[in-house]
Amino acid sequence: MLTLGIYKKEQYQRLGKERRFAGPRAAYNLLRLDENPTAEDIRAFEDIYFTMRTSNGTFRTTFRDRFRDVDAAAMRWIADLVADGRTDAPIRIQDRAVSSGLTSAEWAQSLYDRFPNVEFEASDLLTELRELAGNGESWMLEPNGTLLQYIRPPFVVSMHHPESWRNPLLRWVAARAKKRFSAIRVSDYEMRRISCIHPEAQALVRIRPGFRFEVRSIFDRTPGACDVLRTMNILNRSYFSAEQLADAIDAIFDSLRPGGIWIVGRTMEDNFRNHATFFRRGESGWEVLERIGDGSEIEELALQGQVPA
Ligand SMILES: C[S@@+](CC[C@H](N)C(=O)[O-])C[C@H]1O[C@@H](n2cnc3c(N)ncnc32)[C@H](O)[C@@H]1O
Repeated sequence: MLTLGIYKKEQYQRLGKERRFAGPRAAYNLLRLDENPTAEDIRAFEDIYFTMRTSNGTFRTTFRDRFRDVDAAAMRWIADLVADGRTDAPIRIQDRAVSSGLTSAEWAQSLYDRFPNVEFEASDLLTELRELAGNGESWMLEPNGTLLQYIRPPFVVSMHHPESWRNPLLRWVAARAKKRFSAIRVSDYEMRRISCIHPEAQALVRIRPGFRFEVRSIFDRTPGACDVLRTMNILNRSYFSAEQLADAIDAIFDSLRPGGIWIVGRTMEDNFRNHATFFRRGESGWEVLERIGDGSEIEELALQGQVPA
């Protein structure tokens, strides 16, 4: 049966296990959580996140315990960085393209037990959504104004990625909503912000002054700003061209101090195995320190790359 939309919390919960695959039918304003969310609310947040897709085509997929092996290896290399064994050293970490930041919070938590003064920046291009609500309808937007979704019960339709041709009714609703959007008076609507940061990561921000979120691109250069930089499940050949990947690699090289560590890799969707490479940044190039699984699919590109003098 064609589902027109899932716009109520109870409706979403009734879907049981299937809800993780509700995809664009689930209204993104269901990501809004109270200050003290229940375990069920948090599960729903994670499930909606699982299939959420933003305008640049990358998925937001992330999940609990994804990087147990990567985190354990990182712990060894970070201990190695602290040459004199000073566990109170202020190690600067950047975790980029983190989606909801759940895996960043897990990693940071494990590090704080041993290195209490870690400075941890988790970043993503998108850390919140906007909802323009009123007159019984809502538009979900990215902060730059890109329309993602239109909600008018019983309909929830995708605005950026086209609805399937198999659903002519939903395509018609989406086309009509787009037309309407250009004609509405924004002042008749309320603009609400919806955080895309996982509640556990938000809680960590509150209790750990060294843990913070930034809006940042993987292409940003922050010269010499960190000792460890991680980019998981973003620098994939399926997302970016070789030229774009080379640009990102240069930006990462620039952002690490000499001797710093870059962790890059991907989780395979069929068996959830991680394939990652740990690099050390030299004065003029990368050295492979360790591989998990088969290593990163862009390892060769990094080793071949022209690194700025
Ligand atoms: C598949 S998720 C990876 C999340 C997390 N690193 C993990 O592996 O569990 C990819 C994330 O990259 C973000 N992203 C896409 N393009 C980006 C860019 N140019 N700069 C920073 N983040 C980006 C998306 O918003 C999305 O949250």
